[in-house]
Amino acid sequence: MADKKTRTALVTGASAGIGAAFARVFAQNGFNLVLSARRLTQLEMLALELETAYGVKTHIIVADLADPNAPQRIFDDLEEEGIAIDALVNNAGYGVPGLYRQVKWETHRDFIQVMITSPAHLAHLFEPGMVERGYGRILNVASLAGIIPPSAGHTQYGAAKAFMIRFSQAHALEHKETGVHITALCPGFTYSEFHDVSGARKIVSKLPKLMWMEADEVAQQGFEAVMRGDPVCINGRVNRFIALLAKYLPDWLTTRIVRSQSSKFRVTDVK
Ligand SMILES: NC(=O)c1ccc[n+]([C@@H]2O[C@H](COP(=O)([O-])OP(=O)(O)OC[C@H]3O[C@@H](n4cnc5c(N)ncnc54)[C@H](OP(=O)(O)O)[C@@H]3O)[C@@H](O)[C@H]2O)c1
Repeated sequence: MADKKTRTALVTGASAGIGAAFARVFAQNGFNLVLSARRLTQLEMLALELETAYGVKTHIIVADLADPNAPQRIFDDLEEEGIAIDALVNNAGYGVPGLYRQVKWETHRDFIQVMITSPAHLAHLFEPGMVERGYGRILNVASLAGIIPPSAGHTQYGAAKAFMIRFSQAHALEHKETGVHITALCPGFTYSEFHDVSGARKIVSKLPKLMWMEADEVAQQGFEAVMRGDPVCINGRVNRFIALLAKYLPDWLTTRIVRSQSSKFRVTDVK
């Protein structure tokens, strides 16, 4: 349960996958929910489900985080509604298939906005209120891709997730005594709409089942990690083992392994 009073969590990318799972976990633990994404219908369905199943209050904000004004608009909307945010889940995200030069600049620019600038901006907007109230939880959904060496295609993805991990670690160090916990969550392959959106469903469906986790499990582990105050949480034993290999094997070897396997999960040919 959310301690003392009823708290409120804002989840970005709540219309599907890991974000919707996070909304359910926070609701199960007594948090009211602010649900944000671009698709209103999915958010409305989730809001109804959470209100019915857990008796929590919900508020929907339709926003495209590729718009640089979106974080401020979300913040202003909540100020106007008098809703204080106790937990922020920076979850919205996607992958861009193809080689860097095959993808138009506007797509790369929007990707940086959604994956790096908007979550950093949202954290900056909501952090002061959390510090003032002596309680805050910021969960940045990164990825195992931010830990393992890069490969061709989806060129900015690993870099964006590495940013989220390092950013969370540094940010957490600024909150030793404020009551604010900051966690980077690093899932590996997770069942969601992610690989349908990136067009990789056909190739990733050939990966062994043991590589995959359910979104609910990923979100539950993320919730527990941010409540404990772990700066980084890698989901599942298989992903933790891969992260260990990436840490202790020499770079040349891990890079070679990832490159030899990357055609099983990266779409490079978008022509
Ligand atoms: N699935 C995996 O294997 C995996 C592994 C590691 C990390 N992750 C990370 O987990 C997070 C959640 O992904 P998922 O797997 O749950 O994928 P998903 O099922 O495709 O959900 C992605 C969510 O992000 C939202 N979103 C995408 N672009 C947006 C934009 N421009 N503005 C606002 N919202 C946007 C989508 O909502 P709308 O379309 O309604 O806007 C959707 O709710 C991402 O950060 C992803 O990088 C996923």
